[in-house]
Amino acid sequence: MRLILLGPPGAGKGTQAEVIKEKYSIAHISTGDILRENVKSATPLGLEAKQFMDSGKLVPDDLIVSMVKDRLKNPDCINGFLLDGFPRTVNQADALEKMLSELGISLDAAVLLEVSDQTVVDRLSGRRTCKLCGAIFHVKFRPSAKGTQCEKCGGVLYQRDDDKEDVIRRRLSVYYEQTSPLIKYYEEKGLLKRVDAEKSSDTVLTLISELFG
Ligand code: AP5
Repeated sequence: MRLILLGPPGAGKGTQAEVIKEKYSIAHISTGDILRENVKSATPLGLEAKQFMDSGKLVPDDLIVSMVKDRLKNPDCINGFLLDGFPRTVNQADALEKMLSELGISLDAAVLLEVSDQTVVDRLSGRRTCKLCGAIFHVKFRPSAKGTQCEKCGGVLYQRDDDKEDVIRRRLSVYYEQTSPLIKYYEEKGLLKRVDAEKSSDTVLTLISELFG
C-alpha cells in the first residue's frame, strides 16, 4: 500500500501514521521527523532547514525532494509506504509523481485529515514529543502515564520549537497558501479520501482502516 497523509499541522498525521505503519507493515516517511533528526545532528541540511522550520515556513522544495528520493530507495519501502508531511506544494507533488513513475509504481490514495483551525491550535499547543523515540503525547488528550517522561521508553518529553501559538498560526497560513491546493490536485486524480479527524484518535484510525478494508 502506498499512501499520502494530507492535512493541516496538528491534524494527527504523525499519531495515525505510527499505528498504520504497524497495521499494514509499511514504511513511515515523515519529512518533518527526518528534518528534525538532521537539525539534532547539525548536518548541513539540518543547519539550512532550521531557520525555516523555527519560523513555520516550508523548507525549499529542492532540499526536500532529494531527501525523499533517497529515502524511497530504502529497502523498507518495498512493501509500501506512508508519506507524512510530503508532498506539501504542487511542485513537490509533481516531483513525487515523476519519482514514482521512474520506479514503476503508483499511489493508492491521498488521505485528507480534516480539522478546524481551533482544533489545530488546541492540539499543537498541548503536544509533547519524546526526545528519544519521537512518541507523540498531549497534555490533555493523550497524557503520558509517566508524566513528563515517555511511557514507552522513559525519554524526556519536550515541546517543539514550532508549537508556540504565533508559529502555529504562521504554519496554518502556510498550509492554506501552499499545501491546500493539493486537495484539488489529488481529487482530480481520483485519489483523495476525506476523513473527519475531529473525532478521537481511535475513531479516526477506524475511519481510515474502513477505506482500505
Ligand atoms: P511536520 O513535522 O511535518 O509538521 P506538520 O505537518 O506541521 O505536522 P505536525 O507534526 O505538527 O502535526 P501532525 O498532523 O503530525 O499531528 P500529531 O499527530 O503530532 O513539519 C514541521 C516543519 O518541517 C514544517 O513547518 C516545515 O518547516 C518542515 N517541513 C516538513 N515537511 C516539509 C515538506 N514536505 N516541505 C517543506 N518543508 C517541510 O498530533 C498533534 C497533537 O494532537 C498531538 O499532541 C496528539 O497527541 C494530538 N492528537 C492527534 N490526534 C488527535 C485526536 N484525534 N484527538 C485529540 N488529540 C489528538
